[in-house]
Order: sequence, then C-alpha cells, then structure tokens
Amino acid sequence: MSQFDAFRYDGKRVLVVGGATGMGAAAASLAVDAGAEVIVMDRAPVTLEGVQSISLDLAQQASIEAAVDEVDGVVHAVLSCAGVADGTPGIERINFVGHRHLIARAIATGKLGRGGAIGFISSAAGLGWEANLAELRELLALDDFDESAEWMVAHHKADYMNSKQAMCAYVASSAFELLKQGIRINAICPGPTETPLALANEEMWLGFGSDYRDEVGVGVSTPLEQAYPLLFLCSDAAAAISGITLVTDAGYLTSGTTESFPPATPVAQFLTGKLT
Ligand SMILES: NC(=O)c1ccc[n+]([C@@H]2O[C@H](COP(=O)([O-])OP(=O)(O)OC[C@H]3O[C@@H](n4cnc5c(N)ncnc54)[C@H](O)[C@@H]3O)[C@@H](O)[C@H]2O)c1
Repeated sequence: MSQFDAFRYDGKRVLVVGGATGMGAAAASLAVDAGAEVIVMDRAPVTLEGVQSISLDLAQQASIEAAVDEVDGVVHAVLSCAGVADGTPGIERINFVGHRHLIARAIATGKLGRGGAIGFISSAAGLGWEANLAELRELLALDDFDESAEWMVAHHKADYMNSKQAMCAYVASSAFELLKQGIRINAICPGPTETPLALANEEMWLGFGSDYRDEVGVGVSTPLEQAYPLLFLCSDAAAAISGITLVTDAGYLTSGTTESFPPATPVAQFLTGKLT
C-alpha cells in the first residue's frame, strides 16, 4: 500500500453512464487501467474490451430502472457522462432528468451507498446556474420523472445550456444530503473536447475559444484529458471535495473573468450569468 493508491480504483466497481464513445469511453478505459471493474451503460454499442455493458436509454424511465436493476451488486462510483446537443428530442430527459433518476434509483436499491462517489460531465455552458438557482430550485424539488421533464419544457429549459445548468445546480445543492449518506457528488465542466458529439457540431463546439488556445499554444482537449479529472473527483484522493463544478477548460473562462485575456471576458460574463 502506498499513499498514492488513493488515486487508484483497485477493488472498486465503476458504473459509466454514457460510456460508448467520447469522454465516457475514455473514462471507462481509464477506470479499467486504474484497477476498477467497469460497467458501461449506453444506448449505443459498447466496444471497449473487459467491461460489462448494459443497454440504456436515458430518455425512458423504464429503461433506466431496468438498467439499474441489471447491475449485480454495488458500485463505488457513478460517472454520469451521457449528453446530447440542442436539437435532440428529449434533451431535458437525457441530459438531466434521466441522470438524476438513475442516481436516485441506484441509491434507493442500495447499489450506491456509503463510500460512493458521483461524477457528472456538465459543461462550461452550465456555469450560469447560480444566477438561476431560485427558479431551478422548483425543478430540484420535483422527483417525479415525467413532472420534472414537463417542468423543464414548460419553463423553456429543455435545451443544452439549461439542462447543464440544472445539472450543476443539482450537484451543488445535493452535496449536503448525499454526504450524510456517505456519498460525494461533483462535476467537471469541460471546454471544447474532441469527441463524436463535438465533431458533429464542429464549428460551434470546437471553434469556441480557438483564439485563446492559439495564443497559449494548446489544442482542444482529448477525451482522456477530461477523464483524468473526472476519475480523480470520484477517487478516495478527492475525499475532501464535494458539491463542486470544476471547470476543465485550460483556463479560458478565468482568463476572461480576470480580463487577462480580454476577448474571453464577454463570453465568461455571459456563461457565468454576470452579463448585465
Ligand atoms: N465534447 C465537448 O466539447 C463537450 C464539452 C462540454 C461538455 N460536454 C459533455 O460531455 C459529455 C460527453 O459527451 P462527448 O463529447 O464525449 O460526446 P459523445 O457523443 O461521444 O458521448 C456521449 C455518450 O452519451 C450516449 N448517449 C446519448 N444519448 C443517450 C441516451 N438517450 N441514453 C444513453 N446514452 C446516451 C452516446 O451514445 C455517447 O456514448 C456530454 O454530457 C456533453 O454534453 C462535451
């Protein structure tokens, strides 16, 4: 045993929700490397060797419940990675309501409990949640699947940015109750990352912040570069961390907020809900 083992996952079971491609697939592969037994849920086929795969459609309550019921025994980490872009029907269910329901079901059935950790992949697009917390509290207070989805549609929140804000608000506001049950919850908020989802919306997703990256001399993130902080947050090495939404964008937004890179300032103000 070394002190550094706290970063590893030996003897742990990791559930990756949305791990067929992109960051979820990178996180699943990294978890295997870190010593974990890995279960991947996705609606797409899972090609990674050495993991158990379970079919899941996050837009359907029955599919979520069946998928969780198929998990045999406990999991120590749930990596909530699946997400879709604007224009996808049911985006409010896939990006937020479904993930939350899956976690509630995993806890209710005793599959996720004391010593467990949850790691979401949110987005820099979700950072304005604090400015909208009062309204989002109405959504967070609902636990019924359909009612929550209907609330999001009725309140014009069935889109990418609002679903990621709901996710960040959920992470921050459930840390207290979850930690009483011994479970930590955190999220990463990635900047542009080269995945099938981003490549399908290349100009908007991967063009974002390219002026900053050109000036500092970095590229868009790789999926593995985002998987590293996600796995860290769910490891025992992050025992002191819960309720945070960690911005993993190579410093773009803070450089905008502090005006050290002024072209990003209006973007940072807009994304954090501070643009007046
Ligand atoms: N790529 C980026 O630049 C970027 C930036 C910020 C945040 N994100 C977020 O990162 C997360 C991972 O996305 P990615 O970029 O790796 O893309 P991706 O498309 O490679 O991965 C998303 C995964 O979610 C799965 N999925 C989609 N709908 C589903 C459903 N209804 N049920 C079950 N699984 C479903 C897909 O099959 C896929 O495996 C998403 O939540 C996305 O919003 C991406």
